[in-house]
Amino acid sequence: MGDSNGSPASPGPGDDAARARDAAHRPGNAVSGGYGHPLHTLAATVPIGAFVGTVAFDIASKLGEGRAFGRPASWLAVIGVVSGVVAAFFGVLDFLRISPGTKARQVATLHLILMDVVVLLFVVSFILRRADDTHYLHGTPVPAMVLAIVGVVVMVVGAWLGSTLVYSYGVRVVDDEDQLAGYASTASEGVDADAQADATTDPTSDPSGDVD
Ligand code: HEM
Repeated sequence: MGDSNGSPASPGPGDDAARARDAAHRPGNAVSGGYGHPLHTLAATVPIGAFVGTVAFDIASKLGEGRAFGRPASWLAVIGVVSGVVAAFFGVLDFLRISPGTKARQVATLHLILMDVVVLLFVVSFILRRADDTHYLHGTPVPAMVLAIVGVVVMVVGAWLGSTLVYSYGVRVVDDEDQLAGYASTASEGVDADAQADATTDPTSDPSGDVD
């Protein structure tokens, strides 16, 4: 974008898409994590675990002797909300790398909306828990539990869109050339004379080194 340093004549829509994709590969600044190390991906694991844990403890609080689980469930809801806001902060930094007017930006916007809805659902769920003084003794109030379950369902859809951003559109994934570094043969790094001798006696190898 805004690059006017004599690029090839009449760049087409494919060039624009490739430029937009390559821009989304890179972090906007050091705060969002290094190239190939997005902090949003890492930070998102905490609210996902906390929200799923909330529902697990809510269910436990309704079973047999498990009523005391209402208390840790409340704590997990708070941990999820706070860590969700932190994850969202890193998410917005990466969101700003995705060009407006693209399919990837649409998916990212939907992901943003759904994840914000999830956090809000858990905020309301937590307020309902606190409003019921007996929930530490009698388990999670049903309306709070229903909101938490709905929150987790919405979160699964949102996370699926998040993975579309990464695995289908390559947001914050390194360039293809840089990925090749991970596939360079480690055997080539310390090849000794024996290994070379083996290679020349191996009928399946090409000892000439000729390229056709
Ligand atoms: C509770 C809040 C959030 C959670 C749990 C969450 C979760 C996720 C997950 C699971 C992925 C896929 C990561 C992977 O497979 O490596 C993802 C990717 C992504 N999310 Fe979120 N997200 C949240 C909030 C946000 C917000 C508010 C935005 C802002 C638009 C956002 C933007 C992105 C972007 C741009 C990606 C692509 C990869 C990256 O940047 O690391 N997320 N998110």
